[in-house]
Amino acid sequence: MSSYAIVTLPGDGIGPEVTESALAVVRAAAAAHGGVELDVTEHDASAGRWQRTGVALPDETLTACAAADAILMGAVGLPEARHPDGREVNGDVILRLRFELDLYAGIRPIRSFAGVPTPLAGDAPIDYVIVRENVEGLLASSGTCIREEVATDTLTITDTGTRKVSEAAFALAEQRAGKRKVTCVDKSNAVAAYAFFRRVFDRVAAGHDTVEADYAYIDAMTAYQVLRPETFDVVVTENMFGDIISDLGGATVGGLGLAPSGDVGDEHAMFQPSHGSAPGIAGRGVANPVATILSAAMMLDWLGRRHDDAAAREVAAVVDAAVVRVLADRTVITPDLGGTATTTELTAAVVAALG
Ligand SMILES: NC(=O)c1ccc[n+]([C@@H]2O[C@H](COP(=O)([O-])OP(=O)(O)OC[C@H]3O[C@@H](n4cnc5c(N)ncnc54)[C@H](O)[C@@H]3O)[C@@H](O)[C@H]2O)c1
Repeated sequence: MSSYAIVTLPGDGIGPEVTESALAVVRAAAAAHGGVELDVTEHDASAGRWQRTGVALPDETLTACAAADAILMGAVGLPEARHPDGREVNGDVILRLRFELDLYAGIRPIRSFAGVPTPLAGDAPIDYVIVRENVEGLLASSGTCIREEVATDTLTITDTGTRKVSEAAFALAEQRAGKRKVTCVDKSNAVAAYAFFRRVFDRVAAGHDTVEADYAYIDAMTAYQVLRPETFDVVVTENMFGDIISDLGGATVGGLGLAPSGDVGDEHAMFQPSHGSAPGIAGRGVANPVATILSAAMMLDWLGRRHDDAAAREVAAVVDAAVVRVLADRTVITPDLGGTATTTELTAAVVAALG
């Protein structure tokens, strides 16, 4: 029996609701399968905590996250919780964890589901993964604003950071054994830092000759995600671009409530839905928990690969299959998918579908 220490950070808004749902599903799946035990410790790292205490992520929570086998996060942020320069305080939690734990690869699967209509005209199955550079790029900038007259931020691309995230993308394409293609998304036609990103990507690509290297400029990429999403396999891009195109990708497969993610490094990993804290629907019991349930399944799969633990990977697959069955059935789905089910009812349906 393998046992994993999991730190949960439920966060703000709908974060606690969807985290509770995901934990209920993975616990039920682990109990039914056997062979995997989850030792879960909850910590408060949130915009709400910042409002109450002035600190969003206490040092002891960071230490607990560093010591855990994996982290499961709900969502962090409240639009009104901001630093004096206007930035939301959720960066104190999410960005700090990414930087301090070197979670350099943001893994964002974009996958369509039977039973969930997409807003796109075509109905070709969509199944690609965005690998977002997570710790540099424009979002790593500590910008300045002087006299409310001039504001600057710096786009930083490093050889090491680009190499690491590109290697992660090629490794994923090899593991998926699908189209065996990695698309580098940049703005190398206009910005020197992105031209550098592409040169480093090319060097990494040269070491993976069984995977095709493919390219798209970020502006065209947004159109391709709408017009021919079925042609992608793995997509690698800079931090800010990855942030934007993963929300677009999520929308093309039925909404943010379905889009899971992992922030993965060599030693640590954190899993969370791609969506935010959705304060407008918090506390009403209508949040779609699927993105967080699938994120928890990604966590088990990552633990299974890291520890060569077939049981953990099997539990991940069982959870994933149960979600697919419930969505295809369409009887118990939340309002964002056109249904009337509550978060609790959808959670129960996924547990019942574990088989
Ligand atoms: N990683 C994170 O924790 C993260 C990511 C993005 C935004 N945020 C924060 O979340 C807060 C709200 O941001 P936002 O409104 O731009 O984005 P959001 O993702 O919270 O919400 C966007 C829209 O999607 C809906 N939505 C999101 N998740 C849903 C779910 N599971 N089920 C049903 N509907 C869902 C919301 O109701 C809203 O209409 C902000 O404070 C923002 O900074 C946090």
